[in-house]
Amino acid sequence: MFDSAFDCVVLDGTVVTAADVGRYDIAIKDGKIALLAPARSLSKVKATRIIDAQGAYVMPGGVDAHVHLSEPQLFGKGRPADDFTSGSRSAIAGGTTTIIAFAPQDRSDPSILNALDEAQQKARDAAYCDYSLHLLISNPTEQALEEFAVLRERGVSSIKIYMTYEVLQLRDNQILDVLLQARKDLITTMIHAENGDMLTWMTEQLERRRLLAPKYHATSRPQILESEATNRAIALSQLVETPILIVHVSSPLAANNIRTAQTSGLPVFAETCPQYMFLTRKALDQPGFEGAKCVCSPPPRDGEADLESIWRGIENGTFTILSSDHCPFIYDDNVDGKKSAISEDAPLGRFRYIPNGCPGVETRLALVLSADRLSPQKFVEVTSTNPAKLYGLYPQKGALIPGLSDADLTIWYPPSSLEPFPVTNSALHHNVDYIPYEGQIVSNWPRYTLVRGEVVWDRDNGGIVGRKGYGQFVKRGPSAFCREQPEWDVERY
Ligand code: URP
Ligand code: ZN
Ligand code: ZN
Repeated sequence: MFDSAFDCVVLDGTVVTAADVGRYDIAIKDGKIALLAPARSLSKVKATRIIDAQGAYVMPGGVDAHVHLSEPQLFGKGRPADDFTSGSRSAIAGGTTTIIAFAPQDRSDPSILNALDEAQQKARDAAYCDYSLHLLISNPTEQALEEFAVLRERGVSSIKIYMTYEVLQLRDNQILDVLLQARKDLITTMIHAENGDMLTWMTEQLERRRLLAPKYHATSRPQILESEATNRAIALSQLVETPILIVHVSSPLAANNIRTAQTSGLPVFAETCPQYMFLTRKALDQPGFEGAKCVCSPPPRDGEADLESIWRGIENGTFTILSSDHCPFIYDDNVDGKKSAISEDAPLGRFRYIPNGCPGVETRLALVLSADRLSPQKFVEVTSTNPAKLYGLYPQKGALIPGLSDADLTIWYPPSSLEPFPVTNSALHHNVDYIPYEGQIVSNWPRYTLVRGEVVWDRDNGGIVGRKGYGQFVKRGPSAFCREQPEWDVERY
């Protein structure tokens, strides 16, 4: 077997999967992992390309399951600045090899298939890395629910729904309709859990007092909004016995609710994001309008104890996945960006109109690895393997299983070969004019990124060396965490 020529051999890496760490060589053939062998045992095999990884971490490529690209204006004036080209370019430069973006249903549309067609059209021939889509459901008509089966046929096995934002918010009975249908079709339901009515009420209280600056975004969304909605989402999922995933959890109270549900055996999964591991509400309280850069929902929480609690939730398994929620709005843009919330009568902007979201697809992996807090296996588990399992991509993605896994790799710098350096927006590859982490020191960065065996990012020799259009739509199966169940029976209650 060692005589056959490989397309690429990665020598002597410290290979990390969600289960193990060990020193191995990896051989790649036809875009797949062909072989893992003891370190340096493949030094002499024929290969078109040899990468000497010299003890550097070699990991399954990052899977970022929460990325907003090319979306129409959903609420407020903001429009994401990244499309599938710039967003995926930024992804590979940060070591992410698969992204899952959103296909938003227009609320006036009774169908969800137009949304899927439109998003697929935008992504076709545009991406640098592999990608998939979640359907964002804002109008769960009978027709839309029937079309869940079509989603599955087309390789889409997840949806997102909102409990907030007036134009997206579903009522509890609509959420139940969605969950019941998701149960039938083995679809994973992502839930944005914030109580929209409480938010509207709080916002009106603040506006009446002319408390409009960006920092009041955090005041308008205290933890109780998130923990109440999380509890309700758990109760709704319990009623119809259907798995749910609470996305972008920022609140320790909400995390506790999730943990309690998990402990009692409910299939409740959760996602958190770097903004809730590194930022506090202080980031929103900056001179002038600057705090708008870090306005996202839910907001960063009060202080160090909250950050600590989120890190602990990753370590103890409360959080299944760690995504970026890359939601890229240009700061200095009065029409489609953060500054669209500024008007003559509100020169510091009105927080309620600030487009919500922060960029982060490129910085997710380096920031979290550099924090040196998670074990390497845990890091791979939450940033690659679990998102792949949760969203039906495993073991094609998120693993290094010979013959089964795509040769998607993130190869870091060998220990001590890179001086720690500050992250700056000017070095990144998205279309946004800022990052919330400007100047934060990182100790490592992906040296190479490979997608299906092709080097697409070579930090020291050309940077982005992949090509637009190389990225493929990946058809997904059901979640590894979801099981076929008998028909739900109301008479049991
Ligand atoms: O503030 C955020 N999270 N913006 C992105 C939209 C969403 O709800 O994920
Ligand atoms: Zn959301
Ligand atoms: Zn999001």
